[in-house]
Amino acid sequence: MKTIFSGVQPTGTITLGNYIGAIKQFPALQENNNAIYCIVDQHAITVPQDRLELRKNIRSLAAMYIACGIDPKKSILFIQSEVPAHAQAGWMLQCVASIGELERMTQFKDKSTGKESVSAALLTYPPLMAADILLYNTDIVPVGEDQKQHIELTRDLAERFNKRYNDVLTIPDIQLPKEGARIKSLQEPTKKMSKSDTNSKATIRLLDTAKEIEKKIKSAVTDSEGIVKFDIENKPGVSNLLIIESALSGTAIADLEAKYEGKGYGDFKAGVAQAVIDHLTPIQERYYALIDSPELDEILDEGAVKANAIASKTLKKMENAMGLGRKRR
Ligand code: TYM
Repeated sequence: MKTIFSGVQPTGTITLGNYIGAIKQFPALQENNNAIYCIVDQHAITVPQDRLELRKNIRSLAAMYIACGIDPKKSILFIQSEVPAHAQAGWMLQCVASIGELERMTQFKDKSTGKESVSAALLTYPPLMAADILLYNTDIVPVGEDQKQHIELTRDLAERFNKRYNDVLTIPDIQLPKEGARIKSLQEPTKKMSKSDTNSKATIRLLDTAKEIEKKIKSAVTDSEGIVKFDIENKPGVSNLLIIESALSGTAIADLEAKYEGKGYGDFKAGVAQAVIDHLTPIQERYYALIDSPELDEILDEGAVKANAIASKTLKKMENAMGLGRKRR
């Protein structure tokens, strides 16, 4: 049995990128492993958030995790801020990290470049992420490609901690999806699809209606060749749509190329849109049935108790290793 840990930020409805890159992998991983999935609300506040929106988004993400197939009987599902050990271990790992290595994180550079002022926490975000992972003795972290650098840093921090203090932290491995580790924007297919994109046509969200999905895919940027062929370099728009349909329908890309042979982009886009709608409709139905149910609170309460029990044990080991406080049994 391996321990699986992953997290998603509750900052607005998740995108097809979040889903294909990460969440779609989660249900299968809960079958024969200890799977732990987190709503990382403390990461969300590294940029300003509206209080009421954040609360709404936390609940929405919890419902979405379950609608996407997380079974609370098999996995632990919890909210980061309800387990204090995350912030505590995050602080200890900040003391192990250097400013230089944090400044080298591309996500920090992307989010801070050109801004007059950003929060200190935007820089110290990766040690908190490392704490999330390391507190559960995680073996595998299923994430999209944009998190690769953060997982590498997590490994470095854990190794440094173990060497400097005591061998208490498990070194985790990343697991990228076979396909769709970086889903691209529908409008700029060389850029990743991002929740924070200001162009609403660039991003498909999991709660988009069938009409919205059709419209967004219809206006997706492709090329003028009119041939449905996978070629990331020269045909990034078409390739992105092929990856999306393949990931959601389970059909190999070569079979999709055959399906669309001799057909134009109109038929192709209609097919991709249908595959997205077919996949998302049952998820949306489960989501709307759950979002206002009291059951959701019970699941999150139980998740917090279970997560606290595991995390506080590792925290104690880390404190003992560093010599914080008094020796505790
Ligand atoms: P976040 O909330 O930005 O994204 C959640 C997950 O979605 C993946 N993802 C994508 N995958 C493919 N294509 C895309 N366009 C795309 N956009 C996002 C991300 O790689 C991620 O797996 N720092 C993390 C949250 C976090 C975390 C953790 C993850 C905090 N602590 C511990 C794993 C373990 C983040 O901001 O993800």
